[in-house]
Amino acid sequence: VRPIQRFYDTFAGVYDEAGRGKFQWMPPQVAQELVLPKARAGMKVLDVGIGTGQSVEKLAELGCEICGVDISERMLKLTRSKFSVFELHQGDLDQGLPMLQERLFDIVMAVGVLEFVQDIDKTLRLLSSHLKPQGWLCFTFEEFIPGHELQKDRQSPSGPGAINSPDSTLFLHHRQSVEEIQQIIANSGLKWVEQKRFQAYLKSEKLIPMFYRVVLAQKS
Ligand SMILES: C[S@@+](CC[C@H](N)C(=O)[O-])C[C@H]1O[C@@H](n2cnc3c(N)ncnc32)[C@H](O)[C@@H]1O
Repeated sequence: VRPIQRFYDTFAGVYDEAGRGKFQWMPPQVAQELVLPKARAGMKVLDVGIGTGQSVEKLAELGCEICGVDISERMLKLTRSKFSVFELHQGDLDQGLPMLQERLFDIVMAVGVLEFVQDIDKTLRLLSSHLKPQGWLCFTFEEFIPGHELQKDRQSPSGPGAINSPDSTLFLHHRQSVEEIQQIIANSGLKWVEQKRFQAYLKSEKLIPMFYRVVLAQKS
């Protein structure tokens, strides 16, 4: 079991409450606002790092069919209890998505998860490979921001957050610039449509503002 998996298994029980409370977890709302105008009832949606399902709640309400993958069994258990119709799989993005075989989706979501993957280039190509022609990829990434207290390094251990767990010192957050992500998207058979920077959440008891970018891209 990887530290990040143990971490989210421990976090699961208070995840929704922590995000709604003082830590103000915004990525699910911001990402869905961007992709909702493209979504229609009956569309097939893949959400990687689905967590407790926050990042597809509005798409599900609209009538999209949701398939989710997450490394944490405890997060998946909560999602199952909230959304019984979702198709859910336990899996590690760093190991690919073998359970999906060659399946294609209208929309792929990756919200608040790409900061944890070892190779974002490889992962974005993988996600692109599961899109139908003209399908939409909507994702967030943690921006590399020189001068920011916590985001000034390209990678650093997660550290204290909404919960205190020794596991948070054992996995990394990876950060990129917009230009780097744009390059990867261009090389993944995707067209860059829109992006914006936003305050994603407040980190640790010090409530340090953390900035992510949300991106919408379309498969050629
Ligand atoms: C910050 S939460 C985001 C959950 C949800 N997308 C949201 O926006 O609320 C990160 C999620 O990614 C999952 N995760 C982290 N690393 C992963 C990996 N390598 N493969 C699959 N899921 C992973 C965690 O278990 C957790 O549920």
